[in-house]
Amino acid sequence: MTRYEQIKAELLASPKTWLVTGVAGFIGSNLLEHLLKLNQVVVGLDNFATGHQYNLDEVKGLVSSEQWSRFTFIKGDICNYQDCEIAINNKIDYVLHQAALGSVPRSIADPITTNAANITGFLNMLQAAKEASVKSFTYAASSSTYGDHPALPKVEENIGNPLSPYAVTKYVNELYAGVYAKTYGFKTIGLRYFNVFGQRQDPNGAYAAVIPKWTADMIKGEEVFINGDGETSRDFCFIENTVQMNILAATAPDDVKDNVYNVAVGDRTTLNDLYKAIQAALSECSIFVKKGPTYRDFRAGDVRHSQADVSKAKNNLGYEPEFKILQGISKAMPWYKEFLGKK
Ligand SMILES: NC(=O)c1ccc[n+]([C@@H]2O[C@H](COP(=O)([O-])OP(=O)(O)OC[C@H]3O[C@@H](n4cnc5c(N)ncnc54)[C@H](O)[C@@H]3O)[C@@H](O)[C@H]2O)c1
Repeated sequence: MTRYEQIKAELLASPKTWLVTGVAGFIGSNLLEHLLKLNQVVVGLDNFATGHQYNLDEVKGLVSSEQWSRFTFIKGDICNYQDCEIAINNKIDYVLHQAALGSVPRSIADPITTNAANITGFLNMLQAAKEASVKSFTYAASSSTYGDHPALPKVEENIGNPLSPYAVTKYVNELYAGVYAKTYGFKTIGLRYFNVFGQRQDPNGAYAAVIPKWTADMIKGEEVFINGDGETSRDFCFIENTVQMNILAATAPDDVKDNVYNVAVGDRTTLNDLYKAIQAALSECSIFVKKGPTYRDFRAGDVRHSQADVSKAKNNLGYEPEFKILQGISKAMPWYKEFLGKK
């Protein structure tokens, strides 16, 4: 039995109360779905800045009415400390803090709004959780913290200089988390996500991530743009690996807390190969894929290559990524086909 299987069995036998911030977003709504399916009690906080009511509605349709009755939604803003208090004052055991404004380009266009949600909002949630003496606080960090450090694969201890306002905010989260451990003995776990993808990742808007954006463009027969020469590479991580890491981190023993962990697979896929993989998966779903990609300039703030070393997560938390990129893509494509047909 893996540690993940063991923890899931324990949670089923003895349900806990979770706070998921950013619950109406991509990762948050997937966490909600998995936790409710494990019969957990979940409180969700979101202000719908980038999340959607329809993500919550979809989860409602995927769980039983009894499971859904264990979910309480609070519409609130993490930038407002009172909203964090209202959410945390629900006898929360575990916090999974996902709420933030993602996207490097968004942070370059509007660093102040990103700073407010990602730094002030993070600090509010951290402080509220510390005051409530929750059992654990797990937060969404980011691989952008590696910045300009050239080494591959990325090892948690070796980081470079941030390349964008977004990267600064995610690094500041880690600094605050470290200070809370030292100053107050409140130990947290930061999960440095590497390009998470999967069902319910928003394909719309100027700041859509590459997999949903290209998938939508291909399904709609629109032009697909590759920024740069297509040899930029990423360690794409399917959502279910990310859910696993959150559950493992939340329930981890104290001696592996006050740490950050890479959340990825340990592989590296170029944008050119990603393009071919999505195209192939869509033709398997019998979706007409129009023409080849159009190359344009590199994007400001992007790192060239990214690949994680996930051995720390494996060793300390028992992480075993179940899905490689191609499996994840073929699981996600039918969802996009249906979603884009409806919207
Ligand atoms: N998706 C990735 O590849 C990736 C990579 C690295 C880090 N992350 C981090 O993971 C977390 C979740 O990202 P996601 O991809 O699900 O993005 P998302 O935009 O789908 O979800 C973020 C959610 O947070 C909510 N939110 C934003 N500001 C808020 C505020 N002030 N108050 C309350 N709620 C607020 C949004 O409405 C949204 O529902 C974020 O912290 C993000 O920075 C994601």
